[in-house]
Amino acid sequence: MLKAIIVGAGHRALTYASYARQHPNELQIVGVADPIAARREQVADLYDLPAERCFGSAEELAAQPKFADFVINGTMDHQHVATALPLLAAGYDMLLEKPFAVSEEEMWQLVEAARLHKRKVAICHVLRFAPFYTAIRQKVVDGVIGDILNVQATEHVSYHHHVVGYVRGKWNSKAKCFSPMLMAKCCHDLDLITWMKSGVPPVRVSSFGSNMQFRPERAPAGAGTRCLVDCEIEPDCLYSARKHYLDHPNRWAFYVWDALQQEGATTAAPHKPYAELTLTEKEEWLKRDNPYGRCVWKCDNDVVDHQSVAIEFADGATATLNMVGGASKPSRSIHLVGTLGEIQGNLEDSRFVIRHIDPRPGCEYAEEVVDLSIGGDMTGAFGGHGGGDLRLVADFLKLMNGEQPSISTTTLEDSVNGHLVGFRADTAMTEASVVAI
Ligand SMILES: NC(=O)c1ccc[n+]([C@@H]2O[C@H](COP(=O)([O-])OP(=O)(O)OC[C@H]3O[C@@H](n4cnc5c(N)ncnc54)[C@H](O)[C@@H]3O)[C@@H](O)[C@H]2O)c1
Repeated sequence: MLKAIIVGAGHRALTYASYARQHPNELQIVGVADPIAARREQVADLYDLPAERCFGSAEELAAQPKFADFVINGTMDHQHVATALPLLAAGYDMLLEKPFAVSEEEMWQLVEAARLHKRKVAICHVLRFAPFYTAIRQKVVDGVIGDILNVQATEHVSYHHHVVGYVRGKWNSKAKCFSPMLMAKCCHDLDLITWMKSGVPPVRVSSFGSNMQFRPERAPAGAGTRCLVDCEIEPDCLYSARKHYLDHPNRWAFYVWDALQQEGATTAAPHKPYAELTLTEKEEWLKRDNPYGRCVWKCDNDVVDHQSVAIEFADGATATLNMVGGASKPSRSIHLVGTLGEIQGNLEDSRFVIRHIDPRPGCEYAEEVVDLSIGGDMTGAFGGHGGGDLRLVADFLKLMNGEQPSISTTTLEDSVNGHLVGFRADTAMTEASVVAI
């Protein structure tokens, strides 16, 4: 039985912590640290925590004698390193959200601190644990496609996810969240690319991208400033806050009501858990001065909405990542071409194909389909990200217990390459140059 403390009691940390409720014999949540009283109370209720195990911050927790094996650090991007350093020094191992740093300097600071204090830090690169990507990686390790010549990865961020996070929401500007969209959204994909090429370092990167779609000059005629207040075209608008957050309460709307909870805590406005808000209260909230009721073309967003990255590896292999925000359908795909064959698939389909050359007369190639949905649990009990969320927790517990972890294990050192590519790609895009790694 391992004991953990939630640090940053937001959506992500609570997702990982839910493993303890499903597997009470393996994991127990014994404390919480978060400046928001309502969130501390929610966790205390959920996990039956006494008041002396609830802290106002990571720093306050780190100042107490250690009372758990590890912490689940689900603070926001720019708080990861600042909150991790005192906790590592206090002796805690850590499950740490991605991106684990917002600059290269911070990234190395964390790597150095983990080394110094001899702590285990696993990064929440949950997609490595999605059976889809784990199975592909296993084929690569087994040599099924030989040496990888090229990796093509794409992430299409759906229009509703894109606007809630990167247009209206908390990742819409670097000044607010300190991460560019590439790192906030696609450090997973960069990690998957470098993981597929594990052992071969990336050496050069170039990148192009821009913030093209949701800009004031592209606003249609009649668009107001707030969907439910002054907009003539709201009934026909694809991005209406009503359609996204009221008509579809389970389509990322938790980000909207989370913001209400955070505001409630800082302005002492009456607080209610968002599950208890009525439709009228939600509508009122969207009309008021909060980010999620704004016209998508009239926000303060300055992160890119699409970006392409090209990477060269030390053995001459290449890779590309195309991130596109605003797509009608969410989709992640990967195509690996190796010296002996290729693998191609789409996460959402939970199936991929393996192709090999077949030069016999009348033939061109042979194709084997690997369908993980047959008898496989892609989400369900294992949570989102193609079933990766809770499999990552299970794997970290194995690591903590000294057992053989899976091929997906994400140590800190192992996670550096993907982040490094991301930071340098952003430099390459900004400077319009090819940047060495
Ligand atoms: N792995 C993934 O696929 C994935 C998906 C979405 C988000 N994320 C990442 O997860 C992280 C958390 O996202 P979220 O939406 O759950 O965030 P959130 O804002 O809901 O939660 C963060 C919490 O940290 C708390 N906090 C702030 N300062 C603190 C401190 N000093 N000590 C302790 N707690 C503190 C805040 O009060 C807040 O409750 C982000 O870095 C985000 O980018 C990862």
